[in-house]
Amino acid sequence: MGYDFDQTIDRRGTGSLKWERYRGRDVLPMWVADMDFRSPPEVIEALRRRVDHGVFGYPVPTQVLVEAVVDRMKRMYGWAIEPDWIVWIPGVVVGLNIACRAIGHPGDQAVTFTPIYPPFLSAPRHMDRGLLRLPLVRQDDRYTVDVDRFERSVTDRTRLLLFCNPHNPVGRSFDCEEVRRVAEVCLRHKIVICSDEIHCDLVLDNRQHVPTATLDPEIEQQTITLMAPSKTFNTPGLGCAMAIIPNGHLRRQFVDAKAGLVPHVNVFGFEAALAAYQHGEAWRQALLQVLRANRDYLIREVNRIPGLAMGPVEATYLAWIDASGLGVDNPARLFEQAGVGLSDGAEFDGPGFVRLNFGCPRPTLEQAVERMSWTRPAACSR
Ligand SMILES: Cc1ncc(COP(=O)(O)O)c(C=O)c1O
Repeated sequence: MGYDFDQTIDRRGTGSLKWERYRGRDVLPMWVADMDFRSPPEVIEALRRRVDHGVFGYPVPTQVLVEAVVDRMKRMYGWAIEPDWIVWIPGVVVGLNIACRAIGHPGDQAVTFTPIYPPFLSAPRHMDRGLLRLPLVRQDDRYTVDVDRFERSVTDRTRLLLFCNPHNPVGRSFDCEEVRRVAEVCLRHKIVICSDEIHCDLVLDNRQHVPTATLDPEIEQQTITLMAPSKTFNTPGLGCAMAIIPNGHLRRQFVDAKAGLVPHVNVFGFEAALAAYQHGEAWRQALLQVLRANRDYLIREVNRIPGLAMGPVEATYLAWIDASGLGVDNPARLFEQAGVGLSDGAEFDGPGFVRLNFGCPRPTLEQAVERMSWTRPAACSR
């Protein structure tokens, strides 16, 4: 079946976070991580059927959905999970915050590798935890974790690693040896790993996503894995995600930490998740082709623009662009003035960078690139 990823869909006036930011202005929104594509037709159809049913009481995840998740983990990632390891939550960011609340005590410390998706920076603070920020290092044009520095920096208050793989914003899909070295530091220091793998189905290169928890049974026992159908199938507005927690003690801590605070997943979130997992694979494959082509186009074009540099993107639909060569304090503002709304790298602890969401039809991307190429301050160093 052919899918239409070329059609430009007008999202203005639909209450879209991404598009409302620039309401009434000629600025292309390429910031927050949702795509401008329709979800798979099977997802839309399942939602339509559920609307027609007309009764929207409190839902539970159906057995068939739980089986679909168990089956998916096995098939895609060789991970044999038990149904009761799954804790349903309305979002992965919620999961990051619950993990910070569940693990350790106020005054303890979480650690993360920067630059990083901003909720990783704020979640520890929300729960009165400190945050150790360790910069990723660049080796051969790829970002990686400085594992020795990580181990040296750990203190006896370091309780939780907030890990992101595939990584937003740098686009790495970490090799299993890199992840293993990170996880081994956590094992040695009894640090719980909260592994945000929301982008795991969006690996663009010919490589396999390896869930942290699958590396070793001991690592599995110390890991909270966060996943969701939302990035892959473009349903973040439907609020459905899961924490997979094999260790019963950790799972109880997590469940207790969310009690009374976190709402149920809603009926449409569950419905869309089931349809996506059961019927969305052909659509996902088609999407990956579109994203690969967009990425290849973008990397070629961005690196032609004086002052900008973009490295490889192994996974996600997010490009992390080094704009420091433009010689301006706030490159995101400059691009916004040129009509392209990007995420400001400073919010990710990556000042001088911008993040561009290329999950959009090609004409939108081409227009964005053209507008970005207008920004050439006299101080440009290239
Ligand atoms: C790494 C990562 N985690 C979590 C989220 C958001 O997840 P949710 O919408 O389920 O809270 C995003 C969205 O961009 C993300 O990139």
